[in-house]
Amino acid sequence: MDTSPRNTAARTAVMDVRSRDYQPEVESEFAETLITSRQNTSPRRLVEPGPSVSELARILRAAAAAPDHGLLRPWRFVIVPKARRADLAEVFALALIDRDPGATLDQIEAARDKAHRAPMLMLVVARLGVDEARIPPLERMVSVGCAVQNMLLMAHSLGLGSGLTSGQAMPSARMRGLFQLTEGEEAVCFLNMGTVAKRKLGRAHPGVQDFLSTL
Ligand SMILES: Cc1cc2nc3c(=O)[nH]c(=O)nc-3n(C[C@H](O)[C@H](O)[C@H](O)COP(=O)(O)O)c2cc1C
Repeated sequence: MDTSPRNTAARTAVMDVRSRDYQPEVESEFAETLITSRQNTSPRRLVEPGPSVSELARILRAAAAAPDHGLLRPWRFVIVPKARRADLAEVFALALIDRDPGATLDQIEAARDKAHRAPMLMLVVARLGVDEARIPPLERMVSVGCAVQNMLLMAHSLGLGSGLTSGQAMPSARMRGLFQLTEGEEAVCFLNMGTVAKRKLGRAHPGVQDFLSTL
């Protein structure tokens, strides 16, 4: 990285005023550590406490800073409070029975249990649109992913664990009904947050040579 004085001044200029003491070598190392040390934590490993009210506010504000072509804000999130977890558990169970009428009681119970694990649970909804062809769904989906990643990184920076969960119940009519999804909206995944009970080993990330070429 070029950290010559001229470049440092130019980079400082584009940083927020709060970062007047911007030091590229320090900030970039922080960013790299934050990004590369984030890992998906299964809801099984997440315990209380979840994010505080102010932590949650910061996490949500991070989503709002995602790149957003056309400024459509093609996402929304729905918190599932403890008092409504039983409703979600029922959706998981009934969606399983719809798919597999022969599901065992253990399987149904395991499906139900997924609704109760994480201290903070929210649904990620992609607003892919019905009448707004200007920004195609693919681009909107990128924006949704960026918003989610911003949240994961902010949660990680706060010392919280986070993980995404999805599954075959996501597109079900029962899920759509519970969350009152409208036409053009899709249930993408759940964002789980809490305190990490037991950290797992980090995975090896793919090498850049695996995903970069030059035209
Ligand atoms: C949209 C989406 C849905 C996901 N759903 C699940 C899931 O249902 N179960 C799961 O174990 N991980 C799920 N993940 C997390 C990935 O498995 C995880 O990111 C991947 O294993 C890489 O691990 P890392 O995030 O720790 O680097 C999901 C990730 C994304 C982006």
